[in-house]
Amino acid sequence: MKKLYTLLLLSTLVCFVAAMTRPAPHPQGKVDAKYGGVKTCKTCHLSAKSGAQFKIWKKSPHANAYATLQTDDAKKIGKENGVDDPATSGKCLQCHVVAYGVDASLKGPKLKLEEGVSCEACHGPGSLYKKKKIMKGITAGEIDGAKYGLVKVGEETCAKCHNKKSPTFKAFDYKKQLAKIAHPIPKK
Ligand code: HEC
Ligand code: HEC
Ligand code: HEC
Ligand code: HEC
Repeated sequence: MKKLYTLLLLSTLVCFVAAMTRPAPHPQGKVDAKYGGVKTCKTCHLSAKSGAQFKIWKKSPHANAYATLQTDDAKKIGKENGVDDPATSGKCLQCHVVAYGVDASLKGPKLKLEEGVSCEACHGPGSLYKKKKIMKGITAGEIDGAKYGLVKVGEETCAKCHNKKSPTFKAFDYKKQLAKIAHPIPKK
């Protein structure tokens, strides 16, 4: 009988410790935010006053990344890699569009393959952080963006696509490449 009690006590203890040490339901940056597509961001990040991030991105190669997969060049590279149609193959799409492989339930109706590597490919899904009050709070340092799905973009973000698995990869110098796509908020 005594043995049984000790056993019971022990198992309750184990359960308690397990519950206490279980990771938080949303570790940093892993919130159930949805990908809404570039139009979600365009409204507020269009004017010169805000830094014209949309226009800068639109002129960058990232906005063209899906269209690139429809070119003859891409078809040639596809052939060399056993891919018939790069524009429909995950082997190519994984780095040439936003949110590839993400569960359909986390993709909004306006998200399009055609937008290529758009804002949320680097900054994370925007459904929670896109509210003006939250955006301002994050920029002011009063709100932790990670809790709303905003990713701290750095070299490792780029390396998810700019790496040796890219059939055309040469080298990636973070500082130089970043300068080519920079879209800062103007200093007030
Ligand atoms: C309702 C308007 C609005 C929408 C929609 C919006 N933003 Fe913002 N965003 C802002 C404002 C305002 C700021 C603060 C900028 C300032 O103070 O000039 C900001 C700041 C940011 C910042 C800087 C955060 C930091 O760490 O300082 C990023 C990155 C950003 N937005 C990305 C996005 C992306 C990506 C989307 C689309 C998913 C988006 N925003 C949608 C209004 C918006
Ligand atoms: C989701 C994948 C993805 C991510 C993340 C990504 N890129 Fe790219 N990037 C691409 C693709 C694909 C191209 C080629 C687009 C084309 O030519 O159609 C490209 C092209 C570029 C180019 C122009 C070509 C070159 O190499 O000079 C620059 C510059 C660049 N990226 C910088 C960056 C930087 C800086 C980051 C991180 C802050 C980044 N990229 C993150 C996929 C990505
Ligand atoms: C691991 C990510 C990744 C994969 C997978 C990938 N690409 Fe790319 N692709 C890139 C990046 C990043 C660039 C920008 C240039 C560079 O660094 O290679 C690019 C550039 C290109 C370009 C522009 C040409 C150039 O020299 O800049 C073509 C065409 C292309 N990719 C076709 C394909 C095809 C076809 C596939 C599938 C067989 C594919 N890519 C798979 C990341 C990838
Ligand atoms: C290829 C990756 C990539 C894409 C695509 C991208 N960004 Fe960024 N963004 C960055 C990086 C890197 C920074 C600078 C580091 C930082 O502030 O987090 C940045 C910074 C910003 C900032 C803050 C600038 C500042 O001065 O603090 C805003 C706002 C922003 N991006 C909005 C957007 C919007 C809107 C889009 C789409 C139209 C977009 N970004 C697309 C990588 C990207």
